[in-house]
Amino acid sequence: MQPLTPSSLPPTPATVSTKLDAFWMPFTANRQFKTQPRLMVAAQDMHYTSEDGRQILDGTAGLWCVNAGHCRPKIVEAIQAQAATMDYAPTFQMGHPAPFQLADRLTHLAPEGLNRVFFANSGSEAVDTALKIAIAYHRVRGEGTRQRLIGRERGYHGVGFGGISVGGIGGNRKLFGSLLNDTDHLPHTHNLAEQAFSYQQPTWGAHLADELDRLVALHHAANIAAVIVEPVAGSTGVLIPPMGYLEKLREICTRHGILLIFDEVITGFGRLGTGFAADYFGVVPDIITVAKGLTNGTVPMGAVLVRQEIYDAFMQGPEHAIELPHGYTYSGHPLACAAAIATLDVYAEEGLFEHAASLADYWQEAVHSLRRSPHVIDIRNLGIVAGIELEPRPQEPTRRAYDCLVRCFERGLLIRVTGDIIALSPPLMLQKSHIDQMVEILGEVLSDLP
Ligand SMILES: Cc1ncc(COP(=O)(O)O)c(C=O)c1O
Repeated sequence: MQPLTPSSLPPTPATVSTKLDAFWMPFTANRQFKTQPRLMVAAQDMHYTSEDGRQILDGTAGLWCVNAGHCRPKIVEAIQAQAATMDYAPTFQMGHPAPFQLADRLTHLAPEGLNRVFFANSGSEAVDTALKIAIAYHRVRGEGTRQRLIGRERGYHGVGFGGISVGGIGGNRKLFGSLLNDTDHLPHTHNLAEQAFSYQQPTWGAHLADELDRLVALHHAANIAAVIVEPVAGSTGVLIPPMGYLEKLREICTRHGILLIFDEVITGFGRLGTGFAADYFGVVPDIITVAKGLTNGTVPMGAVLVRQEIYDAFMQGPEHAIELPHGYTYSGHPLACAAAIATLDVYAEEGLFEHAASLADYWQEAVHSLRRSPHVIDIRNLGIVAGIELEPRPQEPTRRAYDCLVRCFERGLLIRVTGDIIALSPPLMLQKSHIDQMVEILGEVLSDLP
């Protein structure tokens, strides 16, 4: 089958005349965007094409998802072929081969012991699924009082009610109310005074994991189902775990029979140069949530990987009875499975995780060279991720980073900003020349920025 190339695609409608009113854009300043739209109309490998025909270097892998680069022929062909063969098939009391094959592939990539996979359609759904599994797991084992979920300040776990409840973003509580009751939160681990300009993991902060012992003393282990953290937090500004921190969390959870969930929606599939962050840190949780890079961003899909003991705990009672009353119409969707299997092939055939690992030092030196640029108060990095924190403009927090985003886009670089922090997470197929270009554009923009 001929892969679609940008030139063989039907022309994109003239965007100048595109009506922008009807689409209520997610996580966007809608009014601002619609007066000054930034539209992209095609993509290939490391670049987007903007509607005015410019090449935009993708410094963010879309939204941390296009790890293998854009419009990779093998993935495109797999989706096309699947759409033409079987568009949809249910996975409730029925099946088709693809999700079984994909689940099996994932268990070979996952840390040892996590060998059962539940499919969802996004990171948010994966997180809510994981939280429900954790609570239900304790119930089926006769420990139904274990209901409380512990997240972390500045945690981001998507937008479902479960995810925002364990998440640590004040704005969600402001707008959506008190959320799930039975939650509590660890302190976040970010401290500029102690950690600014650390290379990779900061040495300060492992003691913050001891706060979990305090929460256990307060609520009692018999009431706690799970702890959920991002091994590296992305959406709230690239927060790298202090050395020894995740190990401590693991030890405390094990000691108290609490499930440890790693939300690897952004760290899964090579971002740190390993399959999962769990591999990078050598800390194995009980449950891992993934999405994004699972299908290289092509078809929405999320997944929850669990230890076999968790799955086994549900496999009791009459065999004709449904063990877990949970799932989505599109769990294990044929197109998503085809995309994911092809994506895993591309990662393996091109050695993209190893490639990312081999560039991590170059990446580190390059991003830290921006230390001398105006406004920069911290730079942090791990694998092929970087966070560059800017001094907020007095009276106008977030404005400086937003202006930086707009100017970078004008100069041909896509970055992501959260608050006054720039987050970089390019596709893993990048070369040194792309890193140089990113740093050059950012350096120029920061120098010009008021
Ligand atoms: C750690 C983490 N969890 C969950 C999500 C939510 O994923 P989605 O937007 O696919 O629902 C994200 C999204 O950025 C994330 O970074």
